Amino acid sequence: MDRITSNNDMASYLQIADDEKSYNLDLFCVPRHYEKDLDKVIIPHGLIMDRTERLARDIVRDMGGHHIVALCVLKGGFKFFADLLDYIKTLNQNSDKSLPLTVDFIRVKSYCNDKSTNNVKVIGGDDLSSLSGKHVLIVEDIVETGKTMQTLLSLLSKSRPKMVKVVSLLVKRTPRSSGYRPDYIGFEVPDAFLVGYALDYNEYFRDLSHICTLNDKAKEKYKV
Ligand code: IMP
Ligand code: MG
Repeated sequence: MDRITSNNDMASYLQIADDEKSYNLDLFCVPRHYEKDLDKVIIPHGLIMDRTERLARDIVRDMGGHHIVALCVLKGGFKFFADLLDYIKTLNQNSDKSLPLTVDFIRVKSYCNDKSTNNVKVIGGDDLSSLSGKHVLIVEDIVETGKTMQTLLSLLSKSRPKMVKVVSLLVKRTPRSSGYRPDYIGFEVPDAFLVGYALDYNEYFRDLSHICTLNDKAKEKYKV
């Protein structure tokens, strides 16, 4: 099995520095119902799209020629998954190399409030055995400790896929990291809790286009 592991130091990414000037909320449009909850815009929607377009190009360059199964990690990955696949589709229509795609979905849950729990639960998704012998691209929203992805990768390896690559829109710079790095990374972000573009806080804020930080009042308001 020529499974590409994820310890790939070569992945390049756009770094959002700890002292990066984030954007004032008043300069962007956000849903009215979240106006009082957000602190700053960390990554505007347009920049997410631009970086995603390039990730699509890199993935087609590396995986083109194979049939791939794009595996969306729900729920947080759904926006990135949809936009990434749209860019890959556009490339397939306009370049020599083309990447036949099928899609699959898996649901994992590891978070409560703004803290990762040690308990990574896979709840739902198709039978993973259908991935046997396939080239699989796992599409994830954010890697923090790396536990979710490592759990998923070891689960997946039981189905004996031919190759597994991981693309994560975000990787958090945190001392809690296990050292795990995805094969493709959109942005490396500061150690803060982020919401928007399908990332949630107890299921809220998925319906927000930009990636933002929350204020403390909101963390209280939506706590479970
Ligand atoms: P890990 O297992 O610690 O790498 O955490 C990965 C999962 O935790 C991601 O798939 C997210 O669902 C969730 N997560 C981690 N950090 C954040 C965040 O800042 N905002 C929202 N969800 C997060
Ligand atoms: Mg996720």
